[in-house]
Amino acid sequence: MTSTALLQQKSKVKGIAIWFCIVAALGGLLFGLDQGFINGSLDFIMKYWGLSLSGGESYAGIMLIGCVIGAILSGWITRAIGRKYMLVIAALFFTIFSFWGSTTHSYEILYWTRFCLGLAVGSASFVVPLYLSEIAPTKIRGAMLTLYQFFLTIGIMGIYFSNTYCDKVYSPTWGDATWRLMLAFIGIPAVVMLVLAFFIPKTPRFLMLKNKEDQARKVLEKTLATNEECDLAIKEIKDGIEQDAKLKASGALKSIIGKGFFKRVLVLGILLQVFQQLTGINTVIYYSGIIFHNAGVSNPAAGTILVGIINVLATIIAIVCIDKFGKKPLLSTGLIIMIITLIINGIMFSIGNLGTFGQITLVISTLVFIVGFAYSWGPVVWAMCAEIFPLEGREFGMVVTTAVNWIFAFIVVRFSLTIMNSFGGNTLFFIFAIFCIIALIFTKYIVPETKGITLEEIETNLKSGKKLREIGKIN
Ligand code: BGC
Repeated sequence: MTSTALLQQKSKVKGIAIWFCIVAALGGLLFGLDQGFINGSLDFIMKYWGLSLSGGESYAGIMLIGCVIGAILSGWITRAIGRKYMLVIAALFFTIFSFWGSTTHSYEILYWTRFCLGLAVGSASFVVPLYLSEIAPTKIRGAMLTLYQFFLTIGIMGIYFSNTYCDKVYSPTWGDATWRLMLAFIGIPAVVMLVLAFFIPKTPRFLMLKNKEDQARKVLEKTLATNEECDLAIKEIKDGIEQDAKLKASGALKSIIGKGFFKRVLVLGILLQVFQQLTGINTVIYYSGIIFHNAGVSNPAAGTILVGIINVLATIIAIVCIDKFGKKPLLSTGLIIMIITLIINGIMFSIGNLGTFGQITLVISTLVFIVGFAYSWGPVVWAMCAEIFPLEGREFGMVVTTAVNWIFAFIVVRFSLTIMNSFGGNTLFFIFAIFCIIALIFTKYIVPETKGITLEEIETNLKSGKKLREIGKIN
């Protein structure tokens, strides 16, 4: 452990440091609100604008294309204007495009405002973890990073509640236009984040990059408990920046991308993100209402709200277990739960006309599926992708893997309903079950365990030519 880390382990965590993290993590909340928005609102939107099923999927999916582009662009923008102002811009986009979309009378504008919301979600998915990792004192860094996924699931649950509330209370008077209220709701927390984000500091690392050591020290004095810690933190940031500059001057980034070990670890990160999406999680997050409705469930909205609540609760299991049991056991057991529940859902749709028992089985099995995902592949994949890349290629690796996550989320969201309508819900669930089985084999034979090992040790193992599965082994 580095000396700053050691010092910080002993000292008290200041409330203000946690507050800065909470404000930044609101980006995760907004991500969740937009991600869950479709569930409960799509029916109104399709009726209001006279969209076909494929048109509805296209509206749902366009945000994810925005996410891909937002994630890629924010890598560059963040380096130029800093993490804080990237957060402010994301909050501004969330605010403008939620209100604009909710009041427009043109479908084209609604469509493109959802794309722009995607830019905000994509950049939040990149910049929030980055801001948190640079502002949080070492002692609480892990917890603050999981706070992001936790807020995300709270956002999904929040929008399920608010969509259901709007449906029950306002749809009798607003009719098909109820979606306007549902979308406007997202604008409210966005305004809150926009205002609060102005008052959080720039990160010390960014300030030091811009040669503003005095300002960096002022921020550290706010977040850290003692002067000694501030001195050490400044020294370590300086060393890190010098090391980066040397690497840049030697063309290390370019050369590292061509290296065999980097390509291997990049493929590992990409496959983790691909399989995260091919579990079918977003079919449930986006369309559980439609799935339950198609299966004849009498109260699909209640089922969807349960999906949201269980998603939040199961994420807490991950927060508690991730450092205790390691990541691989979470990934494997999560997959076994998902395989079983996906097969049960497939069988339920094969049976067709479900009685009450069949409907209850489908809802319970979907909820257990959510548990399987939320304590494992949800948080673990994001955490692993932040750990496995060597320093010189970390930003590049994270941008690529984040973009891949959004591309596959798009494919799943864009085609799930079409597959369900053309080939049946059973085909859709069996396809996801097959991908989960492949992911289980991949996890057993290729994924490393990274519990209790420093990032530097992972890097050394990787560069020494160890098999991917063994890069997390302490020598
Ligand atoms: C995934 C999202 C998903 C969310 C559900 C995240 O880890 O990347 O695609 O919607 O979990 O909670």
